[in-house]
Amino acid sequence: MAIISSKKQSPQPERPDKNIFLASEKKTSYKTKKSKSQSESAELDALLAVEATTEEKGGNQNEEKIRPQRLDEYIGQKDLKEVLNIAISAAKSRKESLDHLLLYGPPGLGKTTMSLILAAEMEVNCKITTAPAIEKPRDIVGLLVGLQKGDILFIDEIHRLSKMTEEILYPAMEDFRLDITVGQGKTSKTRSIPLKPFTLVGATTRVGSLTSPLRDRFGIIQRLRFYEVDELSLIIIRAAKLLNTDITEDGAEEVARRSRGTPRIANRLLRRVRDYSEVKKLTPINAEVAGEALELFNVDPLGLDWTDRNLLRTMIENYNGGPAGLETMAAATGEDAQTIEEVYEPYLMQIGFMQRTPRGRVVTSAGWRHLGFSPPDEQLSLKL
Ligand code: ADE
Repeated sequence: MAIISSKKQSPQPERPDKNIFLASEKKTSYKTKKSKSQSESAELDALLAVEATTEEKGGNQNEEKIRPQRLDEYIGQKDLKEVLNIAISAAKSRKESLDHLLLYGPPGLGKTTMSLILAAEMEVNCKITTAPAIEKPRDIVGLLVGLQKGDILFIDEIHRLSKMTEEILYPAMEDFRLDITVGQGKTSKTRSIPLKPFTLVGATTRVGSLTSPLRDRFGIIQRLRFYEVDELSLIIIRAAKLLNTDITEDGAEEVARRSRGTPRIANRLLRRVRDYSEVKKLTPINAEVAGEALELFNVDPLGLDWTDRNLLRTMIENYNGGPAGLETMAAATGEDAQTIEEVYEPYLMQIGFMQRTPRGRVVTSAGWRHLGFSPPDEQLSLKL
Protein backbone atom coordinates (compact mmCIF):
# COMPACT_ATOMS: atom_id res chain seq x y z
CA MET A 1 0.00 0.00 0.00
CA ALA A 2 1.48 3.32 -1.00
CA ILE A 3 0.77 6.38 1.06
CA ILE A 4 1.78 9.89 0.22
CA SER A 5 1.91 12.33 3.06
CA SER A 6 1.89 16.11 2.83
CA LYS A 7 4.26 16.37 5.78
CA LYS A 8 7.36 14.40 6.56
CA GLN A 9 6.91 11.75 9.19
CA SER A 10 9.31 9.03 10.21
CA PRO A 11 8.24 5.80 8.58
CA GLN A 12 7.64 2.87 10.89
CA PRO A 13 8.26 -0.69 9.89
CA GLU A 14 5.20 -2.75 9.11
CA ARG A 15 4.57 -5.45 11.66
CA PRO A 16 3.25 -8.87 10.90
CA ASP A 17 0.16 -8.70 13.09
CA LYS A 18 -1.00 -12.12 12.17
CA ASN A 19 -3.39 -12.77 14.96
CA ILE A 20 -5.50 -9.70 14.73
CA PHE A 21 -8.92 -9.64 13.27
CA LEU A 22 -11.38 -6.89 12.83
CA ALA A 23 -15.05 -7.30 13.58
CA SER A 24 -15.81 -7.36 9.89
CA GLU A 25 -12.97 -9.75 9.08
CA LYS A 26 -14.28 -12.78 10.90
CA LYS A 27 -15.69 -14.66 7.95
CA THR A 28 -12.82 -14.07 5.59
CA SER A 29 -9.82 -16.10 4.63
CA TYR A 30 -7.40 -14.10 6.75
CA LYS A 31 -6.97 -17.07 8.98
CA THR A 32 -3.73 -17.69 10.75
CA LYS A 33 -3.03 -19.91 13.70
CA LYS A 34 -3.70 -18.28 16.99
CA SER A 35 -0.64 -17.98 19.15
CA LYS A 36 -1.62 -18.70 22.70
CA SER A 37 1.31 -16.83 24.08
CA GLN A 38 0.16 -13.60 22.57
CA SER A 39 -2.04 -11.83 25.04
CA GLU A 40 -5.11 -9.93 24.08
CA SER A 41 -3.57 -6.59 24.93
CA ALA A 42 -0.44 -7.42 22.98
CA GLU A 43 -2.65 -8.14 20.01
CA LEU A 44 -4.28 -4.78 20.34
CA ASP A 45 -0.94 -3.06 20.79
CA ALA A 46 0.35 -4.76 17.72
CA LEU A 47 -2.59 -3.71 15.67
CA LEU A 48 -2.37 -0.15 16.79
CA ALA A 49 1.31 -0.09 15.97
CA VAL A 50 0.58 -0.73 12.30
CA GLU A 51 1.66 2.54 10.81
CA ALA A 52 1.02 3.75 7.33
CA THR A 53 3.47 1.81 5.22
CA THR A 54 5.81 3.41 2.71
CA GLU A 55 5.84 7.10 2.08
CA GLU A 56 6.51 8.20 -1.40
CA LYS A 57 7.16 11.52 -2.93
CA GLY A 58 4.01 12.47 -4.74
CA GLY A 59 3.72 13.06 -8.47
CA ASN A 60 6.29 14.33 -10.87
CA GLN A 61 8.42 17.29 -9.86
CA ASN A 62 7.03 19.72 -12.44
CA GLU A 63 3.50 18.90 -11.42
CA GLU A 64 4.30 19.52 -7.76
CA LYS A 65 5.92 22.85 -8.62
CA ILE A 66 2.78 24.22 -10.26
CA ARG A 67 0.16 22.75 -7.94
CA PRO A 68 -1.61 25.59 -6.10
CA GLN A 69 -0.92 25.45 -2.36
CA ARG A 70 -3.68 27.63 -0.93
CA LEU A 71 -7.33 28.25 -1.70
CA ASP A 72 -6.69 31.78 -3.01
CA GLU A 73 -4.22 30.42 -5.59
CA TYR A 74 -6.77 27.90 -6.86
CA ILE A 75 -8.43 29.11 -10.05
CA GLY A 76 -12.02 28.12 -10.96
CA GLN A 77 -14.58 25.92 -9.15
CA LYS A 78 -16.07 29.07 -7.60
CA ASP A 79 -18.99 27.35 -5.86
CA LEU A 80 -16.81 24.61 -4.42
CA LYS A 81 -14.31 27.16 -3.07
CA GLU A 82 -17.11 29.13 -1.43
CA VAL A 83 -18.51 26.02 0.27
CA LEU A 84 -15.05 24.97 1.47
CA ASN A 85 -14.13 28.46 2.64
CA ILE A 86 -17.17 28.47 4.90
CA ALA A 87 -16.47 24.94 6.15
CA ILE A 88 -12.83 25.86 6.91
CA SER A 89 -13.75 29.05 8.80
CA ALA A 90 -16.46 27.28 10.80
CA ALA A 91 -14.24 24.32 11.71
CA LYS A 92 -11.36 26.60 12.65
CA SER A 93 -13.46 28.83 14.87
CA ARG A 94 -14.93 25.79 16.63
CA LYS A 95 -11.47 24.18 16.78
CA GLU A 96 -12.92 21.06 15.20
CA SER A 97 -11.90 18.90 12.29
CA LEU A 98 -13.52 19.54 8.93
CA ASP A 99 -16.60 17.55 8.03
CA HIS A 100 -15.97 14.50 5.85
CA LEU A 101 -15.97 15.57 2.22
CA LEU A 102 -16.82 13.67 -0.96
CA LEU A 103 -15.51 15.15 -4.21
CA TYR A 104 -16.73 13.73 -7.49
CA GLY A 105 -16.28 14.46 -11.16
CA PRO A 106 -14.16 13.51 -14.16
CA PRO A 107 -10.42 12.87 -13.66
CA GLY A 108 -7.88 15.69 -13.70
CA LEU A 109 -10.11 18.45 -12.31
CA GLY A 110 -8.21 18.91 -9.03
CA LYS A 111 -9.65 16.59 -6.38
CA THR A 112 -6.24 15.67 -4.92
CA THR A 113 -5.04 19.26 -5.17
CA MET A 114 -8.10 20.45 -3.27
CA SER A 115 -7.48 17.92 -0.53
CA LEU A 116 -3.86 19.11 -0.10
CA ILE A 117 -5.08 22.71 -0.04
CA LEU A 118 -7.61 21.88 2.68
CA ALA A 119 -4.81 20.36 4.76
CA ALA A 120 -2.67 23.47 4.26
CA GLU A 121 -5.56 25.77 5.21
CA MET A 122 -6.37 23.70 8.30
CA GLU A 123 -2.63 23.35 9.12
CA VAL A 124 -2.84 19.56 9.33
CA ASN A 125 -1.28 16.60 7.52
CA CYS A 126 -2.84 15.02 4.48
CA LYS A 127 -2.31 11.33 3.84
CA ILE A 128 -3.11 10.29 0.32
CA THR A 129 -4.01 6.81 -0.80
CA THR A 130 -6.25 5.09 -3.29
CA ALA A 131 -8.92 2.47 -2.59
CA PRO A 132 -7.31 -0.36 -4.59
CA ALA A 133 -4.16 0.06 -2.45
CA ILE A 134 -6.14 -0.67 0.71
CA GLU A 135 -6.04 -4.41 0.38
CA LYS A 136 -6.42 -5.69 3.91
CA PRO A 137 -8.29 -4.41 6.96
CA ARG A 138 -4.98 -3.75 8.66
CA ASP A 139 -4.14 -1.26 5.89
CA ILE A 140 -7.06 1.00 6.70
CA VAL A 141 -6.58 0.45 10.46
CA GLY A 142 -2.93 1.48 10.13
CA LEU A 143 -3.91 4.60 8.28
CA LEU A 144 -6.62 5.61 10.73
CA VAL A 145 -4.55 4.94 13.82
CA GLY A 146 -1.65 6.94 12.36
CA LEU A 147 -3.73 10.10 11.93
CA GLN A 148 -3.12 13.04 14.22
CA LYS A 149 -5.93 15.28 15.47
CA GLY A 150 -7.61 17.02 12.55
CA ASP A 151 -5.57 15.24 9.85
CA ILE A 152 -7.00 14.59 6.43
CA LEU A 153 -7.12 11.13 4.94
CA PHE A 154 -7.62 11.33 1.17
CA ILE A 155 -8.89 8.18 -0.51
CA ASP A 156 -8.99 8.31 -4.29
CA GLU A 157 -11.36 6.05 -6.26
CA ILE A 158 -13.33 5.59 -3.07
CA HIS A 159 -16.06 3.70 -4.93
CA ARG A 160 -13.58 0.80 -5.16
CA LEU A 161 -13.25 0.16 -1.39
CA SER A 162 -13.92 -3.39 -0.29
CA LYS A 163 -17.02 -4.04 1.80
CA MET A 164 -14.86 -4.90 4.78
CA THR A 165 -12.90 -1.64 4.59
CA GLU A 166 -16.14 0.29 4.27
CA GLU A 167 -17.49 -1.34 7.40
CA ILE A 168 -14.40 -0.34 9.35
CA LEU A 169 -14.86 3.20 8.09
CA TYR A 170 -18.47 3.60 9.25
CA PRO A 171 -17.80 3.91 13.03
CA ALA A 172 -14.50 5.62 12.28
CA MET A 173 -16.25 8.35 10.30
CA GLU A 174 -19.25 8.65 12.54
CA ASP A 175 -17.81 8.36 16.04
CA PHE A 176 -14.02 8.35 15.48
CA ARG A 177 -13.95 4.81 16.74
CA LEU A 178 -12.55 1.49 15.55
CA ASP A 179 -14.43 -1.70 16.36
CA ILE A 180 -11.94 -4.50 16.57
CA THR A 181 -12.42 -8.16 17.29
CA VAL A 182 -9.50 -9.81 19.00
CA GLY A 183 -9.08 -13.54 18.83
CA GLN A 184 -11.30 -16.06 17.12
CA GLY A 185 -14.27 -18.25 17.84
CA LYS A 186 -15.99 -18.36 21.23
CA THR A 187 -13.23 -16.50 23.01
CA SER A 188 -13.21 -13.55 20.62
CA LYS A 189 -13.95 -10.12 22.04
CA THR A 190 -14.91 -6.91 20.35
CA ARG A 191 -13.13 -3.80 21.51
CA SER A 192 -13.69 -0.19 20.60
CA ILE A 193 -10.60 1.89 20.08
CA PRO A 194 -10.94 5.65 20.07
CA LEU A 195 -9.43 7.52 17.12
CA LYS A 196 -8.38 11.15 16.93
CA PRO A 197 -10.94 13.28 15.09
CA PHE A 198 -10.03 13.35 11.42
CA THR A 199 -11.47 14.28 8.05
CA LEU A 200 -12.00 11.75 5.32
CA VAL A 201 -11.85 13.24 1.83
CA GLY A 202 -13.13 10.73 -0.69
CA ALA A 203 -12.73 11.24 -4.41
CA THR A 204 -14.53 9.43 -7.18
CA THR A 205 -15.33 9.64 -10.85
CA ARG A 206 -18.42 7.46 -10.25
CA VAL A 207 -20.52 8.87 -7.44
CA GLY A 208 -23.38 6.54 -8.43
CA SER A 209 -21.23 3.52 -7.59
CA LEU A 210 -20.82 4.49 -3.93
CA THR A 211 -22.93 2.51 -1.49
CA SER A 212 -25.50 4.69 0.20
CA PRO A 213 -24.27 4.01 3.78
CA LEU A 214 -20.85 5.34 2.77
CA ARG A 215 -22.23 8.28 0.78
CA ASP A 216 -24.52 9.25 3.65
CA ARG A 217 -21.58 9.59 6.04
CA PHE A 218 -20.09 12.51 4.13
CA GLY A 219 -21.17 15.88 5.50
CA ILE A 220 -20.24 17.73 2.32
CA ILE A 221 -20.72 16.28 -1.17
CA GLN A 222 -19.42 18.42 -4.03
CA ARG A 223 -19.06 17.98 -7.76
CA LEU A 224 -16.09 19.37 -9.65
CA ARG A 225 -17.10 20.66 -13.07
CA PHE A 226 -15.13 21.15 -16.27
CA TYR A 227 -13.25 24.47 -16.38
CA GLU A 228 -14.09 27.34 -18.75
CA VAL A 229 -11.51 28.43 -21.34
CA ASP A 230 -10.82 31.70 -19.49
CA GLU A 231 -10.17 29.79 -16.24
CA LEU A 232 -7.83 27.37 -17.99
CA SER A 233 -6.01 30.31 -19.65
CA LEU A 234 -5.29 31.75 -16.20
CA ILE A 235 -4.11 28.35 -14.96
CA ILE A 236 -1.78 28.06 -17.98
CA ILE A 237 -0.38 31.59 -17.51
CA ARG A 238 0.26 30.85 -13.82
CA ALA A 239 1.95 27.52 -14.62
CA ALA A 240 4.05 29.08 -17.41
CA LYS A 241 5.31 31.70 -14.96
CA LEU A 242 6.32 28.99 -12.47
CA LEU A 243 8.05 27.05 -15.26
CA ASN A 244 9.84 30.21 -16.56
CA THR A 245 8.12 29.89 -19.91
CA ASP A 246 7.24 32.88 -22.06
CA ILE A 247 3.63 32.65 -23.28
CA THR A 248 1.28 35.30 -24.65
CA GLU A 249 -2.38 35.59 -23.63
CA ASP A 250 -3.56 34.28 -26.98
CA GLY A 251 -1.01 31.45 -26.75
CA ALA A 252 -2.43 30.45 -23.37
CA GLU A 253 -5.96 30.67 -24.76
CA GLU A 254 -5.07 28.40 -27.68
CA VAL A 255 -3.71 25.76 -25.28
CA ALA A 256 -6.75 26.26 -22.99
CA ARG A 257 -9.21 25.70 -25.84
CA ARG A 258 -7.59 22.34 -26.56
CA SER A 259 -7.45 21.18 -22.93
CA ARG A 260 -10.89 19.51 -22.63
CA GLY A 261 -11.86 21.68 -19.66
CA THR A 262 -9.21 19.91 -17.56
CA PRO A 263 -6.25 21.55 -15.75
CA ARG A 264 -4.20 18.35 -15.75
CA ILE A 265 -4.45 18.24 -19.57
CA ALA A 266 -3.77 22.01 -19.81
CA ASN A 267 -0.53 21.63 -17.87
CA ARG A 268 0.47 18.60 -19.90
CA LEU A 269 -0.16 20.37 -23.21
CA LEU A 270 1.72 23.42 -21.94
CA ARG A 271 4.80 21.25 -21.38
CA ARG A 272 4.53 19.79 -24.90
CA VAL A 273 4.17 23.26 -26.42
CA ARG A 274 7.10 24.52 -24.34
CA ASP A 275 9.30 21.70 -25.71
CA TYR A 276 8.23 22.57 -29.25
CA SER A 277 8.88 26.30 -28.87
CA GLU A 278 12.30 25.70 -27.29
CA VAL A 279 13.45 23.21 -29.92
CA LYS A 280 12.13 25.28 -32.82
CA LYS A 281 13.35 28.51 -31.17
CA LEU A 282 9.87 30.01 -31.51
CA THR A 283 9.34 32.18 -28.46
CA PRO A 284 7.22 33.52 -26.93
CA ILE A 285 4.50 30.88 -27.30
CA ASN A 286 1.73 32.65 -29.18
CA ALA A 287 -1.49 31.23 -30.64
CA GLU A 288 0.25 30.24 -33.87
CA VAL A 289 3.10 28.39 -32.15
CA ALA A 290 0.70 26.66 -29.73
CA GLY A 291 -1.61 25.66 -32.61
CA GLU A 292 1.27 24.26 -34.68
CA ALA A 293 2.68 22.30 -31.75
CA LEU A 294 -0.66 20.80 -30.77
CA GLU A 295 -1.52 19.83 -34.34
CA LEU A 296 1.80 17.98 -34.35
CA PHE A 297 0.75 16.18 -31.16
CA ASN A 298 -2.59 15.28 -32.77
CA VAL A 299 -4.70 17.46 -30.48
CA ASP A 300 -7.38 19.14 -32.58
CA PRO A 301 -8.78 22.67 -32.08
CA LEU A 302 -11.43 21.40 -29.63
CA GLY A 303 -8.95 19.23 -27.76
CA LEU A 304 -10.08 15.93 -29.24
CA ASP A 305 -7.30 13.38 -29.61
CA TRP A 306 -7.03 10.29 -31.79
CA THR A 307 -9.12 8.15 -29.42
CA ASP A 308 -12.00 10.65 -29.22
CA ARG A 309 -12.11 10.89 -32.98
CA ASN A 310 -11.84 7.14 -33.39
CA LEU A 311 -14.80 6.63 -31.04
CA LEU A 312 -16.96 9.09 -32.96
CA ARG A 313 -15.82 7.81 -36.38
CA THR A 314 -16.49 4.18 -35.41
CA MET A 315 -19.98 5.04 -34.23
CA ILE A 316 -20.69 6.95 -37.43
CA GLU A 317 -19.19 4.48 -39.87
CA ASN A 318 -20.23 1.22 -38.19
CA TYR A 319 -23.48 2.14 -36.46
CA ASN A 320 -24.72 5.12 -38.47
CA GLY A 321 -24.05 7.35 -35.43
CA GLY A 322 -25.77 5.05 -32.92
CA PRO A 323 -27.46 4.21 -30.67
CA ALA A 324 -24.60 1.90 -29.72
CA GLY A 325 -24.02 0.30 -26.32
CA LEU A 326 -20.90 0.95 -24.26
CA GLU A 327 -19.64 -2.63 -24.58
CA THR A 328 -20.23 -2.57 -28.32
CA MET A 329 -18.17 0.61 -28.61
CA ALA A 330 -15.43 -0.86 -26.47
CA ALA A 331 -15.27 -4.01 -28.61
CA ALA A 332 -15.35 -2.07 -31.88
CA THR A 333 -12.59 0.37 -30.89
CA GLY A 334 -10.44 -1.84 -28.66
CA GLU A 335 -10.73 0.70 -25.83
CA ASP A 336 -11.55 -0.21 -22.24
CA ALA A 337 -15.27 0.33 -21.49
CA GLN A 338 -14.60 2.01 -18.16
CA THR A 339 -12.08 4.40 -19.72
CA ILE A 340 -14.56 5.29 -22.45
CA GLU A 341 -17.24 5.94 -19.84
CA GLU A 342 -15.14 7.88 -17.33
CA VAL A 343 -12.53 9.65 -19.45
CA TYR A 344 -13.78 10.13 -23.01
CA GLU A 345 -17.56 10.36 -22.85
CA PRO A 346 -17.93 13.10 -20.21
CA TYR A 347 -16.11 15.63 -22.39
CA LEU A 348 -17.74 14.49 -25.66
CA MET A 349 -21.11 14.97 -23.95
CA GLN A 350 -20.03 18.28 -22.40
CA ILE A 351 -19.24 19.75 -25.85
CA GLY A 352 -22.43 18.28 -27.30
CA PHE A 353 -20.88 15.69 -29.62
CA MET A 354 -22.45 12.68 -27.92
CA GLN A 355 -25.59 11.86 -25.98
CA ARG A 356 -26.49 8.99 -23.71
CA THR A 357 -29.95 7.63 -24.44
CA PRO A 358 -31.76 4.65 -22.91
CA ARG A 359 -30.94 2.69 -26.10
CA GLY A 360 -27.23 3.57 -26.11
CA ARG A 361 -24.81 6.30 -27.15
CA VAL A 362 -25.60 8.57 -30.08
CA VAL A 363 -23.34 10.97 -32.01
CA THR A 364 -25.02 14.36 -32.38
CA SER A 365 -25.15 16.38 -35.63
CA ALA A 366 -22.32 18.58 -34.30
CA GLY A 367 -20.22 15.44 -33.77
CA TRP A 368 -20.85 14.26 -37.34
CA ARG A 369 -19.91 17.68 -38.72
CA HIS A 370 -16.75 17.97 -36.60
CA LEU A 371 -15.44 14.78 -38.20
CA GLY A 372 -16.32 16.04 -41.68
CA PHE A 373 -19.46 13.90 -42.19
CA SER A 374 -22.95 15.11 -43.13
CA PRO A 375 -25.38 14.25 -40.33
CA PRO A 376 -28.28 11.94 -41.35
CA ASP A 377 -30.93 14.71 -41.14
CA GLU A 378 -28.90 16.84 -43.58
CA GLN A 379 -28.34 13.85 -45.88
CA LEU A 380 -32.11 13.42 -46.03
CA SER A 381 -32.74 17.04 -46.95
CA LEU A 382 -30.03 16.90 -49.63
CA LYS A 383 -31.75 13.91 -51.25
CA LEU A 384 -35.18 15.57 -51.31
N1 ADE B 1 -3.17 23.86 -11.51
C1 ADE B 1 -4.00 22.82 -11.64
N2 ADE B 1 -5.24 23.15 -11.27
C2 ADE B 1 -5.21 24.43 -10.90
C3 ADE B 1 -6.18 25.36 -10.44
N3 ADE B 1 -7.46 25.01 -10.28
N4 ADE B 1 -5.77 26.59 -10.13
C4 ADE B 1 -4.49 26.95 -10.30
N5 ADE B 1 -3.55 26.13 -10.75
C5 ADE B 1 -3.89 24.89 -11.06
